[in-house]
Formats: sequence, structure tokens, C-alpha cells
Amino acid sequence: MKERLAMAVHDEIASLVRRAAEIVVFSGAGLSADSGIPTFRDGATGLWNNVDPDEVASIDGFMRNPRVVWNWLRELKNLVDDRQPNPGHRAIARLERIVADKRLTVVTQNIDGYHSRAGNADVLEVHGTIHRLRCHARCGFADEWGEDLREPFPCPQCGAPARPDLVLFGEALDPEVFTAAGRRSARADVFFCVGTSFTVQPAAHLPVWAKASGATVVEINPHRTPLSEVADYSIRAGASQFFAALCQTLAPDAVDATDA
Ligand code: OAD
Repeated sequence: MKERLAMAVHDEIASLVRRAAEIVVFSGAGLSADSGIPTFRDGATGLWNNVDPDEVASIDGFMRNPRVVWNWLRELKNLVDDRQPNPGHRAIARLERIVADKRLTVVTQNIDGYHSRAGNADVLEVHGTIHRLRCHARCGFADEWGEDLREPFPCPQCGAPARPDLVLFGEALDPEVFTAAGRRSARADVFFCVGTSFTVQPAAHLPVWAKASGATVVEINPHRTPLSEVADYSIRAGASQFFAALCQTLAPDAVDATDA
């Protein structure tokens, strides 16, 4: 484990990226912090420090009182709709364009859809998305979560409850998406782990798989996490600062009209 200032390691990390065939960027709530979306566990602003996840974001809570879960997630969706991808998301999208000859996969725990909005093409949302509703019984019904859908309603196809298409506490991850994320992680030469406290399983296992399969694991987080012990590089920096600097090192002369 090497803990160094971000600026000092950019050349080293850039060399690793240049030599890599497969790259994974694994992201968590800290990446969207610069967009004004609160993380789950940071200090006074952490969402789970202010509401009980069992009430507002668990499958048991949804079965007990769907309206409470629906309303809380609806508010979160309004905030996500109101804000936008930040320079960190845009730099990761730019990184994909810089390494266009390689495979770059984003594996995200975030439900905000900002990676795709920023321009990344290959995004695996292991915790689902707040932008879509689906039938709880998985009869096939799915729809965009439109502005007008403010109340829980039964699935128009089978009558089971309709619900946001994200993973609630007490539920399993979509096996297809998680298997794909596991495969990409195992094939990665460089595995970036950004903005996650590394506490929620099974997603938190992906960097461990990547490392066990031979990837260089690079953590970017202003604070130490359990991954800091395991990562090859544990960089104390914000996501936006790190990825913007990495892109600058990799492509100093590139002019990219989509950069902000
Ligand atoms: P957490 O809130 O647990 O952790 C956020 C992490 O981001 C912390 O380690 C912060 O230090 C770090 N951080 C804060 N600002 C940052 C910045 N500007 N740049 C980089 N890092 C920063 O969020 P997650 O690890 O994503 O699950 O939480 C994992 C899961 O727990 C979420 O997906 C969600 C939640 O319950 C579901 O919704 C199923």
C-alpha cells in the first residue's frame, strides 16, 4: 500500500493506464458529492445519519409502507434531476475517450445515472437506477419514473406493486449485472475505486476480486477506508481533482469540447 499525494503519483498511474488493456472505474456516492448529492455515511450530511434506511430504503419498509419509501426516493430523484454530473464524472468520460483503444468499464453503486449523462458508454449500475420503475414481481413492466408518478401504483400488467428499479436493503443485486461487473473486475489491469466507503457487500468485494486477479487497485478517497490497506495506491484526493489531473497527464494537449 502506498499513500502519497495525488500529484506525485499521476505519472506512475498514467503509465499503468497506458499499458493496460482493460480498465474499470468503480464508483460510489463520494463521486457525486461535488454535484451536491449527499453521500450516505459522511458526517452530519450523510443520508443514513439523518433517516433510518430500514424505513425509507429497505424492501421490508416498502412492504410495510410503500408510500414512505416512494416519497423519500422521489425526493432524492428530484434532487438528482435538479443537479448534474460534475467535473469528476466528466473527467471519467473524457478518460474513456482518451483510452479509446482499450476497454473502460464504469461499475457504479450510484443510482443517479450521472456517468451515462456525462458520456460514458459502458456503465454497469449494480445498485440499479432511480430513473426507472419496474414491476416488483418482474412481470416485464418497466417505465421511466416520470414527473407525474408521485404515488405508488399497481403494475399495469399484473397488479403487483410498481417500484423504483433500484436495489433496496434486504434485496439481492441483479445477478446478470453483478456477474458482468465481476467478470470485468477480474479482467481489469487497472481498477480505480473512487468515492466509496467500501462497506456495502457484495459490491465492496469487486476491488478484492480485481486485486486477486492481478489488477493494480487505485483508491481515490479523501479519507481512509478498509480498502486503503489492500489497494496498491490509496490517494487522498477528491474524485474531480484526481481524474482531471490524470486526464491532463495522459493527454496534455487534447482539446475536448465537452470538458468544463
Ligand atoms: P458512502 O456514503 O458509504 O461513502 C462515500 C465515500 O466517499 C466516503 O468514503 C467518503 O470519504 C468519500 N468521498 C466523499 N467526498 C468525496 C470526493 N469528493 N471524492 C472522492 N471520495 C469522496 O457511499 P457508498 O460507499 O457509495 O446502497 O455507499 C455504498 C452503498 O451504501 C450505496 O450504493 C447505497 C448505500 O446504502 C444502495 O443504495 C443499495
